[in-house]
Amino acid sequence: MAEQTVLIDIAGRVAVLTVNRPDKMNALNAETRAALLDALDALERNDAVRVVVLTGAGPKAFVAGADIGEFEGRTPVDQYRAMGGRTVFDAADRFPKPIIVAINGFCLGGGCELAMACDIRIAADTARLGQPEVNLGILPGGGGTQRLPRLVGLGTALKLLYTGDLINAEEALRIGLVDEVVPSAELMPRALALAEQIAAKSPVALRLIKEAARASVRTPLDEGQRHERTLFGLAFSSGDKEEGVKAFLEKRAPEFTGR
Ligand code: COA
Repeated sequence: MAEQTVLIDIAGRVAVLTVNRPDKMNALNAETRAALLDALDALERNDAVRVVVLTGAGPKAFVAGADIGEFEGRTPVDQYRAMGGRTVFDAADRFPKPIIVAINGFCLGGGCELAMACDIRIAADTARLGQPEVNLGILPGGGGTQRLPRLVGLGTALKLLYTGDLINAEEALRIGLVDEVVPSAELMPRALALAEQIAAKSPVALRLIKEAARASVRTPLDEGQRHERTLFGLAFSSGDKEEGVKAFLEKRAPEFTGR
């Protein structure tokens, strides 16, 4: 049987998703993109899973981009079709539970776009990040020209996009492309510890927080604040809110159920 291109490992409330094409630097081919979509759908439906950690197999790469082999000889119509429908980038962005990315090596092109579409990025100190599409005579097509300027500012984004230069993890931290850098050996332990910390919170609150915060990059401030107030009201209909407030008043740790 062919090796699965995406592995799902669920332990308690945290699921680890691993892109598994290490001999191709975990490049995203059509099969891997489809497997990632299926995996995210399955994890969305699984109420036991509260937080997802996304990483790449092997010691070298998180994801080194789209599979360049698929570009050769492809017509515009083929390419348009390949990019149509639901993308892994949109799926990650709209996934209703927190996704932490553990960047274990090269995080390039579509890999960087995928990481940017997720919630929190933790990089190994050995990671290298960039948008090198310009070197292939193309541009990012998974939201990179949109999400990179929002994360790091227009000038810094354009410098990376125009040059295709790769940057190291410390530089990525400095410009805000990643949120934490840890020694390589501590990457998964740190990502899992953060995932466990978040997984103990109210699933209802997490979902509403993600919806409100993610909307902030799409909506004007007043509209976003109206949306936030609506979601705040909605939180008051949940059992988690009852439990959280009661536990505080009773001076005990809350036990959230996601209801
Ligand atoms: N698509 C398809 N295959 C890729 C790939 C990609 N994006 N990135 C790496 N690979 C493959 C290589 O072709 C090679 O396959 P082979 O062993 O069958 O020849 C294998 O992964 C290992 O990569 P290699 O280039 O030998 O490793 P390296 O350590 O010398 O360099 C990179 C690593 C990531 C710097 C280099 O592979 C690279 O530049 N990749 C392309 C990055 C890119 O442009 N991404 C944006 C795509 S739009």
